Amino acid sequence: MYKALYRQYRPEVFDEVLGQDHIVRILKNQIATSGTSHAYLFCGTRGTGKTTTARLLAKGLNCLSDGERPCGECANCRAIKEGSFLDVIEIDAASNNGVDDVRELRESVKYPPATGRMKVYIIDEVHMLSQEAFNALLKTLEEPPEYVTFILATTEVHKLPATVLSRCMRLDFRRVPEAVLIKGMADICSKIGIDVSEDALRIIAANSDGSVRDGLSILDQCISGRDSKVGAEDVLEFLGASGDEDFIKLTDLVRKKKTEEAIVFLDGILSDGKDVRQFMRDWINHYRNLLMVRFMRNPETVISMSAENIDRIRRQAAVLELEDINRGILELSSMADEARWSTQPRILLELAIVRLCMGAGQIRELSEVEFDDPAPMPAAKPAVKAEPAAAPEPVEAEKPAEPAEAEIVPQAAQAKAAEGFDCEDIWNKVFEDGESEQGSIYLIRNGGRITSIDENTFTVAVNNSFVKEHAEKSRKLIEHLVEKHTGAFRAMNLVLAGGGQPEKTADEIAAQASDVLGIKVEVK
Ligand SMILES: Nc1ncnc2c1ncn2[C@@H]1O[C@H](COP(=O)(O)OP(=O)(O)OP(=O)(O)O)[C@@H](O)[C@H]1O
Ligand SMILES: [Mg+2]
Ligand SMILES: [Zn+2]
Repeated sequence: MYKALYRQYRPEVFDEVLGQDHIVRILKNQIATSGTSHAYLFCGTRGTGKTTTARLLAKGLNCLSDGERPCGECANCRAIKEGSFLDVIEIDAASNNGVDDVRELRESVKYPPATGRMKVYIIDEVHMLSQEAFNALLKTLEEPPEYVTFILATTEVHKLPATVLSRCMRLDFRRVPEAVLIKGMADICSKIGIDVSEDALRIIAANSDGSVRDGLSILDQCISGRDSKVGAEDVLEFLGASGDEDFIKLTDLVRKKKTEEAIVFLDGILSDGKDVRQFMRDWINHYRNLLMVRFMRNPETVISMSAENIDRIRRQAAVLELEDINRGILELSSMADEARWSTQPRILLELAIVRLCMGAGQIRELSEVEFDDPAPMPAAKPAVKAEPAAAPEPVEAEKPAEPAEAEIVPQAAQAKAAEGFDCEDIWNKVFEDGESEQGSIYLIRNGGRITSIDENTFTVAVNNSFVKEHAEKSRKLIEHLVEKHTGAFRAMNLVLAGGGQPEKTADEIAAQASDVLGIKVEVK
């Protein structure tokens, strides 16, 4: 019968355990010096090695080897592996959670080990015990016989009573870092003689969220049905690389403000049984990818994706405004956050779509109607605008110019002279007003400053081209506000501080993006 990889490859010795060095070190040392505790609590995320390590400890306590224990080879180690060793007792608290079960356990604790050195009780999912059962267990935990060791394991340590916590040595299992996961999976692949590309492993690791079991499980399913080679494409296909296709389509619908179509489309995706919360996270990640390709010449370094997929993302990024990307990330992040505690995450997602479809229009209207200026707008973006892959539909046709509004001439306008302005003061005033008008404007405030104010112009030096782009887009608003505070209309003259900047490193870009977006953007 076929056995899943994660069952087949359970570490037999401590050195095979991935990513839990801090725990392995302690346990190895305790076993070597016979200094083990009588009760342990293993906690942490699912699939990170709690049960595995509990068995290793049980073996270590009974191993017959003179060398490093457990050896994985002696009669006791083998018997424990096969589950036939009488003195290692595994109890699944999920199905034996009553007080009677614990009473039975207490009875059996009285008898010394049959064949081994130590009797080891592994109580998995211990948080499932009833209150009564906990109480019954406490007595035994307090004063177990010399020959007994308890190992409690749980993913939900917060559900345990303090009285239990205080009687155990607690060890926290961490999510396994991607690099460690990749290495571990590569070792397994070479053992079973399957050629899985590094890229493929990278994508699998990125989708395992630190769980070795999840990683192996994805790997397993990518391997099955293929006889020799597994590439990034296969993994993407398995993970539903359509995923990207879906996100591209959905993002496009939102961009075009096709609310109804977007919601119907979402319905189609979710009816496949996809997890809504996961979907939100993946969509945010799609927006992040859009952001990265806008910023970076070689986004491959931060996006785990095939070159083809990156190209598709690049095409979409080219037709999106930075602000759309910005808003997408912010909106979805806050919804994903709320969805964690909601019983109706789907409604939140639909609401996010509605808001994304609406938001763009409203904000645009605000800046166009209120601050429209007959003066022509300088081109804000590089001239090359790639076409979207699929849609030949009109790229958001520029609105016909609004009829010029009656000119707004502030009261104090004529009175003030061109010289003698405090540039910093004006800049601050502009943004105190501006803040309430448009969300992303604080970016310009921090990334630029007025260097001079002349009779007809004022000069703003910006730190980089990203801020410049933003400032260019808010030109009318800024000019309007400067006019308000200086008393006369002046055109904005935008210059890059220091005349252009060297290419930024990925870290700087990420830090900047984090700043702008208010979320953590990580670069690997
Ligand atoms: N740290 C690890 N190193 C190597 N393999 C691991 C590790 N963690 C998990 N695995 C793999 O995943 C399988 C399941 O691991 P294990 O049962 O120890 O996880 P767990 O932490 O007890 O998970 P759960 O919380 O779901 O009970 C193992 O058989 C092994 O193949
Ligand atoms: Mg377990
Ligand atoms: Zn052994």
